[in-house]
Amino acid sequence: MQLHISPSLKHVTVSTGKGVKELIKFKIGSKRVSYLMIIYSLLFCTLLLRTLFVLHAVDTMDGDIKCSTIGCLGKRIRPKIFGRKLEPRVPEVLYQVLAEPLSKEEVKNISDVPQTLEDFMNEVINESSLDMKAFAIKLREMVTLLEQRTRNAKVHEYLYRHVASSSIPKQLHCLALSLADEYSNNAAARTQLPPPQLVPYLVDNSFYHFVLATDNVLAASVVAASLVRNSLRPEKIVLHVITDRKTYSPMQAWFSLHPLGPALIEVKGLHHFDWLTKGSVPVLEAMEKDLKVRSQFRGGSSAIVASENEKPQVIAAKLQALSPKYNSLMNHIRIHLPELFPNLGKVVFLDDDVVVQTDLTPLWEIDMKEKVNGAVETCRGDDKFVMSKTFRSYLNFSHPLIAQNFDPDECAWAYGMNIFDLRAWRKTNISQTYHHWLTQNLKTDLSLWQLGTLPPGLIAFHGYVHVIDRFWHMLGLGYQEDTSVAEAKKAGVIHFNGRAKPWLDIAFPKLKPLWATYVNSSDRFIRACRVNLS
Ligand SMILES: *[C@@H]1O[C@H](CO)[C@@H](O)[C@H](O)[C@H]1NC(C)=O
Ligand SMILES: *[C@@H]1O[C@H](CO)[C@@H](O)[C@H](O)[C@H]1NC(C)=O
Ligand SMILES: *[C@@H]1O[C@H](CO)[C@@H](O)[C@H](O)[C@H]1NC(C)=O
Ligand SMILES: *[C@@H]1O[C@H](CO)[C@@H](O)[C@H](O)[C@H]1NC(C)=O
Ligand SMILES: *[C@@H]1O[C@H](CO)[C@@H](O)[C@H](O)[C@H]1NC(C)=O
Repeated sequence: MQLHISPSLKHVTVSTGKGVKELIKFKIGSKRVSYLMIIYSLLFCTLLLRTLFVLHAVDTMDGDIKCSTIGCLGKRIRPKIFGRKLEPRVPEVLYQVLAEPLSKEEVKNISDVPQTLEDFMNEVINESSLDMKAFAIKLREMVTLLEQRTRNAKVHEYLYRHVASSSIPKQLHCLALSLADEYSNNAAARTQLPPPQLVPYLVDNSFYHFVLATDNVLAASVVAASLVRNSLRPEKIVLHVITDRKTYSPMQAWFSLHPLGPALIEVKGLHHFDWLTKGSVPVLEAMEKDLKVRSQFRGGSSAIVASENEKPQVIAAKLQALSPKYNSLMNHIRIHLPELFPNLGKVVFLDDDVVVQTDLTPLWEIDMKEKVNGAVETCRGDDKFVMSKTFRSYLNFSHPLIAQNFDPDECAWAYGMNIFDLRAWRKTNISQTYHHWLTQNLKTDLSLWQLGTLPPGLIAFHGYVHVIDRFWHMLGLGYQEDTSVAEAKKAGVIHFNGRAKPWLDIAFPKLKPLWATYVNSSDRFIRACRVNLS
């Protein structure tokens, strides 16, 4: 037995067996279809079947009603109903009652309502006469109760997932602390990176320059190791690691003690960039405002959780908007690459949740056609989940500012592995556009978009994107559990975007090894902090 809900949500079909013989099919109507209505419909199907079962097969029941799942019911019903003409009509009165929402008062009173479907069925079956209206009222109360419970459980589930993905695991804390300790106590952990005689190469455009901005040492170590190990000419690789002030010493200690020669690695704290520390920097000002707006966003977190009519995933999204993770300077910093690296012509910017699996130097040979940002598109592809992103997926097209300026069907592209032609970039107003829209979003109380740095990026780089082959950047390993491991192994760079970061316990077990293989389990820091690699 199968239940099918049409994509438009207008039909619910119950079919039995492989022949997809339609047993019951009813229109929910083209009015506003709420998911409450769907729950009703599903339950109704169950009940209708059960009732039919009762009516038609009372003799076989023997009071043994242990079937509470739809599938089980189906199995028991099937032999009875095949070959019979059944035209189950949904009585109008049922819809009338169900469509009327319960008042707050009534909701409070629903204590004598059966708590499970099983109890409910018992009650219904025991009723000698099946008054449709009474039946519908009971059904409505029951569903309301179930829905409330489901909703609360859902909100909690989303909250837990959110906490699981945004809190820092103790292993990472441990790693940062022990490396910071090493930095203060061990001169070897403070060696200058790179050695003085190699410093000129940091601004030499005949080298391949990569930039990684992160405050996660373990993640940085994997990006760096995978980049260098898979490079055909590591002696031409320069990796610029940008980190914040608190992570500077652990990061420096890690790379001093784990040099990846002959590649060059530079570790810089944000406080080391002249450009960021002098005068007024739009990104810093915007961050400050952003922080303020977010803390008051939709009345703060308690107001968001308390809102009763919101769907759980909307609540979760709003809570996420409050998370400092999305407001980190590390995330916004890439929009200032031309100013941070005034001497460089072209860089590849890597996110800290990627793993490099191939030699990336051919990226420098791509003719960018005067465009600024070489990126993979995310609207075409086999994976309809990961690869179906257009501007509509990121921006609020109900807002006139967005609707007037952009095309909802324009293909989106991805951050994570981008080639930036800084020379071409310097001739544009991309950074200003970015900040203009950031400001607009703050002014409209985050109604243009709520999360992340990609939405303003899509806007700012609009018209400046050169599409590169999908081989270079495979996305979704942090949220598409069905990612094929074989496919992932073939990709040039894999990206664990999404919640299930490979360094968290919630990582997908089959994908984690692709990342963990670049962590040395016998390293003393990794061992001491019990970093879990399986
Ligand atoms: C709620 O229940 C109380 C007592 O059981 C009853 O007096 C009251 O009328 C009920 N309210 C509604 C709206 O049904
Ligand atoms: C319905 O019938 C079942 C079994 O016959 C019995 O256990 C149950 O108490 C009855 N429920 C009501 C509400 O009468
Ligand atoms: C950048 O902005 C300035 C001032 O608003 C304008 O004069 C200039 O034409 C813009 N340049 C580009 C490439 O859009
Ligand atoms: C999208 O914009 C509309 C119009 O300004 C606004 O009412 C709505 O709340 C916005 N949606 C979100 C999710 O912010
Ligand atoms: C892993 O760490 C151990 C202990 O520090 C070291 O001897 C070994 O060379 C490392 N292996 C790799 C592949 O870096």
